[in-house]
Amino acid sequence: MDIIDVIMTRRSIRKFTGVPITKEQEELILKAGFQSPTAHNTQPWEFVVIRDIEVLKGIKAYHPYAKMIDNAGFVILVCGNTQKQGSLGFLIEDCSASIQNILLAAHGIGLGAVWCGIYGGEGLVDKTRELLDIPDNIIPVGLVVVGNKLEDKSPKDRYDANKIHYDKW
Ligand SMILES: Cc1cc2nc3c(=O)[nH]c(=O)nc-3n(C[C@H](O)[C@H](O)[C@H](O)COP(=O)(O)O)c2cc1C
Repeated sequence: MDIIDVIMTRRSIRKFTGVPITKEQEELILKAGFQSPTAHNTQPWEFVVIRDIEVLKGIKAYHPYAKMIDNAGFVILVCGNTQKQGSLGFLIEDCSASIQNILLAAHGIGLGAVWCGIYGGEGLVDKTRELLDIPDNIIPVGLVVVGNKLEDKSPKDRYDANKIHYDKW
């Protein structure tokens, strides 16, 4: 798919067939996660690949908006390393750019994906840290749930000229 088509047609997919994604697909979307820009090029991301159904069910038990997580069968938790990036703001921005790359790569190769927030959710950082044995210097930012699609969604045009400000507000 052309990059502009990928960007314009990506939607959050929350229904999956359960058919596992291939090793090649897994490698490609992980590589996409490493290709995002980072402030001062610190590359603070770390990725936890989760396939274990018991771990996925463990996340589902405490995450209020991740009920689809065990149907997809493949999840990447994108984390930031505070020893690589001391600014929390930059760390979250860096990890968010990586998550978006993963979402677009997954869509570009015909898979479905959805971003499930961790950092912004009440108590989710601590619960994720505890379940996955994540050390103190690593901040879990977001989950990307990826799988073969059981639903298709039409693109949404969200362009709004009122939200664009030229030269000053
Ligand atoms: C920071 C962030 C956190 C999100 N968390 C969740 C989530 O926990 N569960 C979920 O199903 N979708 C989550 N989403 C996906 C949004 O619901 C989705 O992007 C939005 O409704 C727009 O729909 P679209 O992605 O199909 O364009 C999240 C998106 C972002 C950017």
